[in-house]
Amino acid sequence: MGRKFFVGGNWKCNGTTDQVDKIVKILNEGQVPPTDVVEVVVSPPYVFLPVVKSQLRPEFQVAAQNCWVKKGGAFTGEVSAEMLANLGVPWVILGHSERRALLGESNEFVGDKVAYALSQGLKVIACVGETLEQREAGSTMDVVAAQTKAIAEKIKDWSNVVIAYEPVWAIGTGKVATPDQAQEVHASLRDWLKINVSPEVADSTRIIYGGSVTGANCKELAAKPDVDGFLVGGASLKPEFIDIINSAT
Ligand code: G3H
Repeated sequence: MGRKFFVGGNWKCNGTTDQVDKIVKILNEGQVPPTDVVEVVVSPPYVFLPVVKSQLRPEFQVAAQNCWVKKGGAFTGEVSAEMLANLGVPWVILGHSERRALLGESNEFVGDKVAYALSQGLKVIACVGETLEQREAGSTMDVVAAQTKAIAEKIKDWSNVVIAYEPVWAIGTGKVATPDQAQEVHASLRDWLKINVSPEVADSTRIIYGGSVTGANCKELAAKPDVDGFLVGGASLKPEFIDIINSAT
């Protein structure tokens, strides 16, 4: 299959210049597997992207946490995909559940964002995931499939897309999905891609898990065949992020 393990660190809306210096120092000093084994991408808030990019060890990459849905212009407060590309920021996280829930980003809007970011040469970590209510109603796969379909309708080339399955009930709650729960959704999502996109895309697209991943639970999750890595929130601000990177081996 040959899907390289992927570990993303989403710092969300956290950090001061001092804290950023400390996190970068931890990242730069950590012992991690080589780049042919694991791809590491950290995502600071926009304002820290240039400094983190310039200070980070060269084998780690950076991601923005969002970008605008189309070409820049009169869109106060937004940051365009062109700007990220111009700054040499290779990745962007799109469709995070916090933006879907708090800022009303619809499936279609996220699909448009993914397509536009890819068109500008960015690589995309596209987030999908169900709420607790949706899981309890038995509609997890319907929700995740609809979110993925809205992206699939807008793009042809999946080679620069990583899908992050992040159950909303597991984000920031300490209630991590069990390895079996994560594997079940990842496998279903891969089947969905096989049927609705292509067997090649299903085989090659990395599906990573996010939601209360820690240094303590990452190994068991990483052992599942369809878990190709992690998108880490809270623990990406701590030294244990190095342990999570090391779960690649
Ligand atoms: O993007 C990361 C996810 O929202 C997970 O956050 O690890 O703090 O639960 P968390």
